[in-house]
Amino acid sequence: MEVVILPGSRQIGALAADAIELLLQRKPNAVLGLATGTSPLTIYEELARRHEEHGVDFSEARGFVLDEYVGLEPGHPQSYREVIRREFTDRVNIKPENVHAPDGSAADIPAACQAYEEAISEAGGVDLQILGVGTDGHIGFNEPGSSLSSRTRIKTLIEQTRKDNARFFGSISEVPHHVLTQGLGTILEAKHVILVATGAQKAQTVRDFVEGPVAAICAASVLQMHPHTTILIDEAAASSLKLADYYRHAYDNKPQWQGL
Ligand code: GLP
Repeated sequence: MEVVILPGSRQIGALAADAIELLLQRKPNAVLGLATGTSPLTIYEELARRHEEHGVDFSEARGFVLDEYVGLEPGHPQSYREVIRREFTDRVNIKPENVHAPDGSAADIPAACQAYEEAISEAGGVDLQILGVGTDGHIGFNEPGSSLSSRTRIKTLIEQTRKDNARFFGSISEVPHHVLTQGLGTILEAKHVILVATGAQKAQTVRDFVEGPVAAICAASVLQMHPHTTILIDEAAASSLKLADYYRHAYDNKPQWQGL
């Protein structure tokens, strides 16, 4: 796990976009894992700008959305398929048919989850997974207690997560209780994971999953088991880390050839 502490979300967005741009140069049909939430927005913003101004090409790229609410009608503005379309995929030249999301309106939820896992495998797996982290340490919607080897499945949201996400809906009563999410085992199979977090309200969460024990109570801690995870955080989110100086030192002296 590499921790990179940056001045702010603009720099975080730029560094993550660098990694995605390099990946697309190396592999034009790369599979991107797409997360929602506020944290990845600067990445999508920067990629849209580079597409517009420098022609960064997504024409062969593929995308898999990380998670989805259950029970929102198709096209609901807060469904994650819609959020990703609005915030990212409509702003670059990725083909709409190459962007997939778990089907939260499926009649047969277990079958939809299974089909999603198969679609990811058939695409050759996720090359680069973008992640945020919830205040309770969830990644995707893997709430505390999630099996560390879980696959795409239905989960029940913790009330705090519904409260956190109510800002996107009219009121908390409109936030679904159930969601579909790639499992922790699914996420661990991505070849490279980039998790972004900013702000003092994430400082304890970051400390818990980066430097605490690997435990289901803090789902993001499973990333300690992943061979290539990059954590991009700002100074505020890094403020509780015990080894912050070491992470800075390691990044400042990193051999150039290593990349992100
Ligand atoms: C939601 C999403 C997560 C995201 C989290 C944090 O719960 N399912 O994928 O990481 O929000 O969002 P934010 O970045 O807005 O704090």
